[in-house]
Amino acid sequence: MYRSHTNGELRLENVNQEVTLSGWVQKVRDKGFMIWIDLRDRYGITQLIFDEERSSKELMEQAKTLGREFVIQIKGNIIERASKNPNIPTGNIEILVSTLTILNIAKLPPFTIEDETDGGDELRMKYRYLDIRRKPVRDNLIFRSKVTMEVRNYLSKEGFIDVETPYLIKSTPEGARDFVVPSRMNEGQFYALPQSPQTFKQLLMVGGMDKYFQIVKCFRDEDLRADRQPEFTQIDCEMAFVEQEDILNTFEGLTKHLLKEIKDVEVGVFPRMTYDYAIKTYGNDKPDIRFDMKFGELNDLAQNKGFGVFDSQELVVGIAVPGCANYSRKQTDKLIDFVKRPQVGANGLIWAKYNEDGTFKSSVDKFFSQEDLATWAERLNANKGDLMLILAGNAEKTRTQLSVLRMEMAETLGLRKPNEFAPLWVVDFPLLEWDEETKRYHAMHHPFTSPKPEDMNMLESDPGKVRANAYDMVLNGNEIGGGSIRIFDKETQSRMFDLLGFTKEEAENQFGFLMNAFEYGAPPHGGIAFGLDRLVAILGGQETIRDFIAFPKNNSGRDVMIDAPSNIDDKQLKELNLKLDL
Ligand code: AMO
Repeated sequence: MYRSHTNGELRLENVNQEVTLSGWVQKVRDKGFMIWIDLRDRYGITQLIFDEERSSKELMEQAKTLGREFVIQIKGNIIERASKNPNIPTGNIEILVSTLTILNIAKLPPFTIEDETDGGDELRMKYRYLDIRRKPVRDNLIFRSKVTMEVRNYLSKEGFIDVETPYLIKSTPEGARDFVVPSRMNEGQFYALPQSPQTFKQLLMVGGMDKYFQIVKCFRDEDLRADRQPEFTQIDCEMAFVEQEDILNTFEGLTKHLLKEIKDVEVGVFPRMTYDYAIKTYGNDKPDIRFDMKFGELNDLAQNKGFGVFDSQELVVGIAVPGCANYSRKQTDKLIDFVKRPQVGANGLIWAKYNEDGTFKSSVDKFFSQEDLATWAERLNANKGDLMLILAGNAEKTRTQLSVLRMEMAETLGLRKPNEFAPLWVVDFPLLEWDEETKRYHAMHHPFTSPKPEDMNMLESDPGKVRANAYDMVLNGNEIGGGSIRIFDKETQSRMFDLLGFTKEEAENQFGFLMNAFEYGAPPHGGIAFGLDRLVAILGGQETIRDFIAFPKNNSGRDVMIDAPSNIDDKQLKELNLKLDL
């Protein structure tokens, strides 16, 4: 028996018991006549003590050989500590060791295995197994497991069946590039790793499974960011005989359940916002509504007053930042620099202070009267003491820039509170988006998404105007899930492929299997997929999903621990029969 207890469970009530413990040496404090050791495992830390008076000479000698991260087993007696540590649950006791067994020695770790470590990102990724020994990383993984369990509990109770779908498939167009896998047995041919199980879950509906879910790995070869990994996990779901309303209710239920069980937070009915409203009011389709600062458009109030910068622009739009009218010149200049950074890309920024005494002071006082500025304040819902920030330019770009500024101000003012949760639905997405580069339409969600029936008549005449039965769930400024009601008849699906510029052959070649299935009695169906990594990170009060993945990739898509991707040997390469000279 390696242990009778874990290192997190012994308390004062256990004093005088004989116990066996195992774990890693976190810390050694050697005072010569006395040695204390912190013994760690997943469950906590227990203090061990060796002393000249009560321990044998051999035992003292043996204890002196221990180094950090040695794996040991001890037997001993629980005693009350003379100086207690209120910061850890086992802080009232310590173990007077009677026998010590070294189970494994350890090299000195390349960074300290403490809550606050001295190891940089790359180093910790290279030795991820050591990083996982640190409490913050371990806690994140345990947290993820708890969320996953709750998802399974809820969906099973609701009658969803967990079905696995294949990883070696044919390309599915979710908008990113595929990772491909050469087939040895089928010379010159490739599998693609799924960007999502989209077509399979639809086929499961044709197969009559009715309610499907899967916690599943997806693979997308796209540029990485804090909230993106090349392989990530979805909570993927599909239901038959449903309308959008059914899906929204079911998955609002799931999210509420998670917030209650995991965070003990109760939220009311999720607000719903159209895509158009979100873009006009927050500048993006995943608004953080924990705080206000809604956009106000000022074209009618600010143009044709002699300020040329505004007059020639498509959109003049601003926000009122609460309580910042007292910003100094230096602070407003800093904001101007911020929006001019290439990552934001604005040409400049106009500010107007709504002073506590009801007067206004702005960077454009030459052109605008106090009365003018008062109309701006009204439009932007500014209160006395607020700072109005205004951008002008091309509508789409300017909205995006202002949305970045809005988030920056919220961050600065501490309005993005990690333990406050503001979920919402964004609905009525456009079906298509125009791609300037390829001069054609792309499906905004994916090509299986159903247009809104009332917009069907515009499908060929004005495709850009057609709205989809598509929805995203947004939590604290992050898109945590997205889905749609699907097309379930061959004719509409083939009209959709036409619109997207597929020839009949291409459509048949890539999606013949799905269109065939639609000819054998496909039920109306729809679904959603949550990004599990994102959901877990946000519930955990963070936004970097890497911290909630056991073995993540770095920003260049590499696993620096196992050193992948890597070359393969010539024999392996030859077997694949790849013709590489294009
Ligand atoms: P979508 O492409 O919107 O929909 O993806 C669903 C959710 O997956 C998460 N996500 C990611 N998370 C981490 N890293 C990535 N690279 C990444 N890409 C996406 C997001 C997103 O909301 N088949 C459809 C779903 C459906 O229609 O039912 C789909 O995959 O949180």
